[in-house]
Amino acid sequence: MITVLVANPKGGCGKTTIATHLAAAFAAAGLRAALADADRQGSSLGWLQARPGNAAAIQALDWRDGPEKLPKEAVDRLIVDAPAAMKLKKIEELLRLADIIVVPVLPSGFDEPVTGEFLRQLETLKPIRKSRAAVAILRNRVQTGTRTAAKLDRFMLGVGHTGVGRLRHRLVYPDIAGRGLSVFDLTGKQNEALREDWAPVLRYIENNDPAMQAQAAGE
Ligand SMILES: Nc1ncnc2c1ncn2[C@@H]1O[C@H](COP(=O)(O)OP(=O)(O)O)[C@@H](O)[C@H]1O
Ligand SMILES: [Mg+2]
Repeated sequence: MITVLVANPKGGCGKTTIATHLAAAFAAAGLRAALADADRQGSSLGWLQARPGNAAAIQALDWRDGPEKLPKEAVDRLIVDAPAAMKLKKIEELLRLADIIVVPVLPSGFDEPVTGEFLRQLETLKPIRKSRAAVAILRNRVQTGTRTAAKLDRFMLGVGHTGVGRLRHRLVYPDIAGRGLSVFDLTGKQNEALREDWAPVLRYIENNDPAMQAQAAGE
């Protein structure tokens, strides 16, 4: 099982959009996916409730009181949607369970400093220090070719962590959020093109499979 934590203390940076999409992408690929909601607001749980019965199935885990509940059935990919305001201790608790932390960042003078500070804090936590969890930065709501997008690219140069691509700003995301859907559940050329935005982060997660790494190391 690969566990991915999606976290950033900045509200509205895309944690729930990314967590739901990663779970849906893995489910669409035929993997057994689970989505754990650790945020009081329960947006991921709401999304799962709204998800149509004919969409690729995703197991729901209510982690609003903590990460006690384990998946009922076997799982290949567990995605965790983290709350915004989270004490460092709580982040560390979730990080201990994670193989990868995906940190969304928006092109904004408000978001970049908060994210930079969060990345510095992450460095102090044991699972990151001991390289047990990898940090991946995912730029979100990018309007390509704009000055703010270029500024975000410069910010990325200074963060010292792997960038795993960028998601374009598209209204389909807020539009389908309430219906329990992702771009992986939709047909049409535009959605197909949007799915390509997700390829680098999905590839990154696949390449961090602990089982595969153990095999490669001859364990
Ligand atoms: N790439 C995107 N393009 C357009 N809107 C987006 C994109 N990513 C997220 N959003 C919208 O931004 C808002 C905040 O995103 P959300 O995933 O709820 O963030 P968080 O969980 O970090 O608070 C939502 O309305 C969501 O639909
Ligand atoms: Mg959220």
